[in-house]
Amino acid sequence: MEVLGIDVGGTGIKGNIVDTDTGALIGEKFKIKTPTPATPEAIIECLKQMVEQFKWHGKKIGIGFPSVIKNGYSLTASNIDPAFINYHINHEFSLALGCDVKVVNDADAAGIAEITYGKGKGVNGLVIFITLGTGIGSAVFYNGQLLGNTELGHLKYKKSIFEKYASNSARELKHLGWKKWAKELNVYLNHLDLLLSPQLILIGGGVSKFFDQYTQYLDVKTKVDNAALFNDAGIVGAAMAAV
Ligand code: BGC
Repeated sequence: MEVLGIDVGGTGIKGNIVDTDTGALIGEKFKIKTPTPATPEAIIECLKQMVEQFKWHGKKIGIGFPSVIKNGYSLTASNIDPAFINYHINHEFSLALGCDVKVVNDADAAGIAEITYGKGKGVNGLVIFITLGTGIGSAVFYNGQLLGNTELGHLKYKKSIFEKYASNSARELKHLGWKKWAKELNVYLNHLDLLLSPQLILIGGGVSKFFDQYTQYLDVKTKVDNAALFNDAGIVGAAMAAV
């Protein structure tokens, strides 16, 4: 089935039409800068632009969104406007876009794609997928089954949370080289490993394609690898979650 998949991030909003039976992207990816402030009204305008760009008349749209999503509501807002806290997101987006819109957490969306078509495929036991972008998102799978909304980027670290030290935006903001940043990432990955004893940790998000630059600085007992679908996983998984 063809579904419009959209990945809303703290920095950019990306979309494409996805064949949910194969995970293939159909056509050219379209990207818009995330507006600031990222209020519901501003995000809806971007989503309308996306629908226009793809001339989307299909029945369904799947959206990955950087918030805990429960019972059709967005509950948290770390890198988006606080107006999204307790916002009836499925309902409001469906109303605004005139079709059935299903929203899931962005890391869960990307993880679904990676566990189905990427390096998580067929792995038994626990797989932790993390996205390192503006924030840190996580998707946890047990025998391929998602345990949603885990928010492992928000584990306490130093005076704040790991997201403020090991995300890609932390690397950019503090002008850290790969080695210095990877030191924080290494602490984070070892913390996850200690808490959950996974079989595999997969790294997704913008930095997954630069894995060669920092893998040598990571020292974790469990296998750590980069995601196979790189940054497109968010779009593919969002579309898959809608069906
Ligand atoms: C949010 C998560 C999201 C992650 C990646 C975090 O700040 O709390 O819900 O998955 O960023 O975008």
